[in-house]
Amino acid sequence: VLTAPIVLLIEHLLHRGLHVYVISIAGASIGLVVLLRLAGLLSAIERARGSERLARREAEQAQRLLAFQNEHLRELDLLKDEFVSSVSHELRTPLTSISGYAELLLEEESSETKQGYLRIIERNSARLLGLVSDLLFAARLQDGRLVLDLAPVELRVLVEQAVEEARPRAERAGVVLEVNAGDASVLGEPDRLAQLLDNLVSNAIKFTPAGGRVVVGLESQEGQIRLEVSDTGIGVPPEDRERLFERFFRSQSALEREIQGTGLGLYISKAIVEAHGGRIGVSNVAGGGTVFVVELPGAA
Ligand SMILES: Nc1ncnc2c1ncn2[C@@H]1O[C@H](COP(=O)(O)OP(=O)(O)OP(=O)(O)O)[C@@H](O)[C@H]1O
Ligand SMILES: [Mg+2]
Repeated sequence: VLTAPIVLLIEHLLHRGLHVYVISIAGASIGLVVLLRLAGLLSAIERARGSERLARREAEQAQRLLAFQNEHLRELDLLKDEFVSSVSHELRTPLTSISGYAELLLEEESSETKQGYLRIIERNSARLLGLVSDLLFAARLQDGRLVLDLAPVELRVLVEQAVEEARPRAERAGVVLEVNAGDASVLGEPDRLAQLLDNLVSNAIKFTPAGGRVVVGLESQEGQIRLEVSDTGIGVPPEDRERLFERFFRSQSALEREIQGTGLGLYISKAIVEAHGGRIGVSNVAGGGTVFVVELPGAA
């Protein structure tokens, strides 16, 4: 395109005509070079498009495979939950019967040794029943949200009950258990709130070595209720803090010390708190230990 104006300009400047061969050869070679370059570019674009199509096909195939595998995993997960929940359900009836008959025998038994054995049977069947109920409850949570049967609840009464129930355990473990509860009413389900308190208090006792202290505090401020369960125990490593509330999570420190548990208590507790419109958090206490803080909206 530029050949004609350039030749005309040179002719004008030099006041003479250029040789026609020079013009045609130069013009044709430039044109040829440009055409070759364009053809090269076009074929490179075509090649890139071809490999892009191939990559896209492969990506689509991989995505289909992934979706299929995901679906398969979801089905397996569902099957596992159904299995756990039906086994737990089946275990509950015989366990209730074992624990009931052990209790009856204990009332009738006069020999000290046999009473000791029966107490062990009773304690262990109660522990198994607790585990089975936690498994069933967690399976229900997986199925959907927790639906509450709401009623006005005096949380102070529940806190004092939970502490009194835990006191023998604390004494056996050599842990001082203190309560400092003010009045606080919430709209909630008493059984679920008692379950939450029991989980937090029993964790605090369980993860505190002998000679330690557990304090349960309850206060109400401007319609907001704050429950604190603090201990002087083994503490929670910062990297585990978020994961504590996951299903079946147990921190390395608990595993190393072989402290018994399933890792369901806090998962269930979080679901209970959230169903009540509240939130739960954990932090470390200066000087060692852990504090769990629950905030709930007051009944007003
Ligand atoms: N007060 C605490 N101090 C230190 N670590 C704690 C405390 N409470 C909970 N944890 C850590 O969080 C983990 C999860 O607690 P969670 O109550 O869910 O399970 P668990 O007590 O081990 O078993 P479960 O409650 O099902 O019997 C525990 O295994 C422990 O590692
Ligand atoms: Mg627990």
